[in-house]
Amino acid sequence: MAIDYKKEGKIAIFTLSRPEALNAINPETLDGLSRALISFKDDDELWVGIITGAGDKAFSAGADIKTMLPKLRTTMGQPWAEPPTIMKGLKLWKPMIAAVNGAALGGGLEIALACDLRIASENATFGVPEVNLGLIPGWGGTQRLPRVIPWAKAAELLLTGRPIDAQEAYRIGLVNKVVSLPELMPTAKQMAEMLCRPGPLAVRAAKQAMIQGTNLSLEDGLELEKALEDYLVTTEDFGEGCKAFIEKRKATFKAK
Ligand code: CAA
Repeated sequence: MAIDYKKEGKIAIFTLSRPEALNAINPETLDGLSRALISFKDDDELWVGIITGAGDKAFSAGADIKTMLPKLRTTMGQPWAEPPTIMKGLKLWKPMIAAVNGAALGGGLEIALACDLRIASENATFGVPEVNLGLIPGWGGTQRLPRVIPWAKAAELLLTGRPIDAQEAYRIGLVNKVVSLPELMPTAKQMAEMLCRPGPLAVRAAKQAMIQGTNLSLEDGLELEKALEDYLVTTEDFGEGCKAFIEKRKATFKAK
């Protein structure tokens, strides 16, 4: 299986699993990732996702240069060749964490960029080397990178294809935290647990407002925020959150 998908309580863990090819994404992996993400999105019991790579060398070295890129000319624009994922085509408001356990290059970095939080192991590297192949990133790298890190650093990475290490990624705000490799998954799970504590519908609405808001004028963004707030005040969780505060106890949220 190119994708290992498992559930631990409210947390879904997606593992890109082709270590012999540095977890490069071939069509089977992309299809498996798409199916697992859709299953996660539709599963009311799951609140947070973590995505990582198998082994200790790579998160993912990107699209499979041997099996995917040669077919690009013929598959371009074919819906079956681009199943919906967080990188493109799937609107997923449940929070996602990338636990980057090694090289995150090209499509690998683009998967991490489509997550909300990124934790890196000390051996992680990040880059968009597509220009070295005579290509540009195709899973959102040119659009998300300049939205996540300062423009000049995004231009440096995108135009030179040069990779950076975990410490530099932390310094420029590409990752939230750098930890040792053995600490990576425990840290990602702790963060996921932290994201499971607040009201899940509110967490999803905050993510939706942030992401959709980046494409809107301030005025339209404020309208979107208002619409989401109007929805949240009608939810059971909002009632429970306020009641728990007044009663000085921990809220029990149900995603309702
Ligand atoms: N596609 C297919 N196979 C890949 C691969 C990829 N993206 N990256 C690595 N592999 C394979 C290698 O071919 C090699 O296989 P063999 O043992 O059968 O030869 C195996 O994984 C191990 O790789 P290396 O021997 O190259 O390992 P290394 O430690 O010397 O180098 C690396 C590691 C720097 C990550 C190097 O493998 C590399 O540069 N990989 C390509 C990275 C890249 O260019 N990614 C962008 C892909 S295009 C893209 O992603 C488009 C998009 O936007 C979606």
